[in-house]
Amino acid sequence: EQKQYLIDGELKTWTGNTTEVYSTISSTETYKPTVLGSIPDMGEPEALEALDAAMAAYGRGQGVWPTMHVKDRIECMENFVGQMETKRDEIVKLLMWEIGKSLPDSQKEFDRTIEYIYDTIEEYKELDRNSAKFQKHDGVYAHIKRGPLGVVLCLGPYNYPLNETFALLIPAIIMGNTTIFKPAKHGVLLITPLLEAFQSSFPKGVVNILFGRGRAVAAPIMQTGKVDVLALIGNSKSANALQEQHPKSNRLRLVLGLEAKNPAIILPDADLDLTIDECIAGTLSFNGQRCTALKVIYVHEDIRDEFIKRYSKRVDELKFGNPWEEGVKLTPLPEPGKPAYIQELIDDAVEKGAKIMNQKGGQKFDNYIWPAVLYPVTKDMRVYQEEQFGPVIPVLSFSDIEEPLNDMAESNYGQQVSLFGKDVYTLSPLIDTLVNLVCRVNLNSSCQRGPDVYPFTGRKDSAQATLSVHDALRSFSIRTFVAFKDN
Ligand code: G3H
Repeated sequence: EQKQYLIDGELKTWTGNTTEVYSTISSTETYKPTVLGSIPDMGEPEALEALDAAMAAYGRGQGVWPTMHVKDRIECMENFVGQMETKRDEIVKLLMWEIGKSLPDSQKEFDRTIEYIYDTIEEYKELDRNSAKFQKHDGVYAHIKRGPLGVVLCLGPYNYPLNETFALLIPAIIMGNTTIFKPAKHGVLLITPLLEAFQSSFPKGVVNILFGRGRAVAAPIMQTGKVDVLALIGNSKSANALQEQHPKSNRLRLVLGLEAKNPAIILPDADLDLTIDECIAGTLSFNGQRCTALKVIYVHEDIRDEFIKRYSKRVDELKFGNPWEEGVKLTPLPEPGKPAYIQELIDDAVEKGAKIMNQKGGQKFDNYIWPAVLYPVTKDMRVYQEEQFGPVIPVLSFSDIEEPLNDMAESNYGQQVSLFGKDVYTLSPLIDTLVNLVCRVNLNSSCQRGPDVYPFTGRKDSAQATLSVHDALRSFSIRTFVAFKDN
């Protein structure tokens, strides 16, 4: 049971109501979620207490943390990451049990986060070195550096409860901001082993950790208008709802990673072996529960039949099992309502003329639904319009490249695309077009966020601000300078 929470440097023990946390993994033949533990069901009083603590620690820019010497701030972060490294086994186990992520992917999430923190420290040192230089233009000297923004409310997603949450939290902290952080609904217990590390590494009020429902704790904080940055990775509905609570919502700094519907575009000369490998990984890693997942496939009509046949066969050959089992690729879904939602998408598509192209597609067992390859998908289908964030793959075919390009231009999203083909004279102008529709073009490879040094962002409703080791430090800070004249 998780009864502790962190406010104002104090690890407090919760005595109020709690909410049970279920594991996605069933211990019975007939699916029945396992109760893993429970978390505090916090509300407005704790939320406002955390806000007060974060504001006091920031002290209108005069607090201990924003004014601390860079070297000391780095030491705090190094202390934290050093303690975190000792928690690997415990956190990896919780990742598997809480969100059903496979053992190799859970280990990767942990290791990637540690690397992210060390890289952020190095980038921060570099930023500091650069800011020590003076500039001179037209007789005016300037000493330009990057300063913090204030109080950051930070909310992470369930699919990367450690890595993506920390991709917001760590740069926000190291830049001198103070923070209030609420873990996602799934993947919440794994924050517990880190509470003491947070408490002992940073001055009081720099990191405040709340538990409970987003609406109950995040909304009252936003309503005060005292949050300077809303940092959220998740869906735009939650982001919009929280932003609207802020009395000066149009002045609020937003650091958001939101939905995407990344397409794969497969040209007639694509290497099919490689394309199928990449499309399997792109569509179904972690059951498609990634904002970067390939969520729609456009295949040229000349190779459509062969691609669909081979890709569908590969989908049915994937191994389903518990996250720790050898070779497992498909694992139980953490959200109890997900199979029913995916079924709705399949039903809607089939009703409107699509077929399930793989034998196992749509089969249900435990809290799972086997990935269905749907073809031909049309634009009036929900599976085309919605971000499925789960195991179902819509396939469309095209004869003219303008068809997928037009769809991308009309889409509400603009994160990434995967382009498969060989002829450089075809690819080259296409790449030039695609980079103006999305923010990353993956050539003959599936979409992904990493390596984390590369910019991670999106156009339209997919993102606001840019994350990455390099960019996040900039997203959570502002350029300030002291100027003086040559007189
Ligand atoms: O959910 C969105 C994540 O940013 C995806 O990250 O591409 O490393 O799996 P990934």
